Amino acid sequence: MLHRLQKKWKVSGWQLVLVLGTFALGGSLCGFITRELLRQFTIENDFIFGTLYFLCLTILWPFSVLLISIPLGQYRFFSNYLKRIRNRLGMSIKQDKGQTIVTVAIFASGSGSNARKIMERFQKHPLIKVGLLVSNKPGAGALHHAADFGISTLIIEKEQFFRGDAYLPELEAAGIDYIILAGFLWKIPSALVTAYPHRMINIHPALLPKYGGKGMYGKFVHKAVIAAGDKESGITIHFVDEQYDHGATIFQAKCPVHETDTPDSLAERIHQLEHAHFASVIEKVITEAVGQ
Ligand code: GRF
Repeated sequence: MLHRLQKKWKVSGWQLVLVLGTFALGGSLCGFITRELLRQFTIENDFIFGTLYFLCLTILWPFSVLLISIPLGQYRFFSNYLKRIRNRLGMSIKQDKGQTIVTVAIFASGSGSNARKIMERFQKHPLIKVGLLVSNKPGAGALHHAADFGISTLIIEKEQFFRGDAYLPELEAAGIDYIILAGFLWKIPSALVTAYPHRMINIHPALLPKYGGKGMYGKFVHKAVIAAGDKESGITIHFVDEQYDHGATIFQAKCPVHETDTPDSLAERIHQLEHAHFASVIEKVITEAVGQ
């Protein structure tokens, strides 16, 4: 059990003792302050007392553990720990000079033309900013676009992504509220899907549920559409769940498929649709979610 905690929190044995000590002392301090606070009032109704007790504990607990963490040298661990809790509760959206700021990370493995459009749209946006470009390919074009816009980048590796912490601590440290998949080919691990419920958006170059799933990306999609003799294709922007190309659809747009089309010419038409819609759909989803 202790071993599992040590692995999960990535701490040494000695640090684990200090972290658990902080939890214990922080909890006791919080209980003590709550009791002292409530003693100042005469509350006879048990239900009201219980509710107030619970409320005070919930509000004071983060402050108590943070306070105790300072002398025990664990402030960094606990401020990250509390950030993670806030993120899980969907409360990570920050205020900057009284203004809400939503930070997005773009995941892209390819040329990054969609990523660039998104960076352009949010470059001077009052609500949304691109805080990070994540890629699994060190040479991906998307990384160069990020450099043009002065956006931080993160190169990820398979082992840590699929069998480690899925880079959650890095995303949390960068204050990422939303994840945008713009041509990212790896399947998203469930830890990440769970951490960003309805806050991860993908774009697919076809009209889902047709032509989606494992292996259906890039040219393979357009080849399949042409081979099936479809008269129209399009794009699907959708929330991400644990299956490939499967989450709830947010938006679709269509374009014709001509008899003379090749996968390249169709890809070109689809790209135009993506560039015309993706960034504005992201903007709409986020704006509506934060109620602005
Ligand atoms: C787009 O066609 C998108 O639909 C798919 O990957 C492609 C990325 O293109 N998910 P780009 O790298 O943004 O040009």
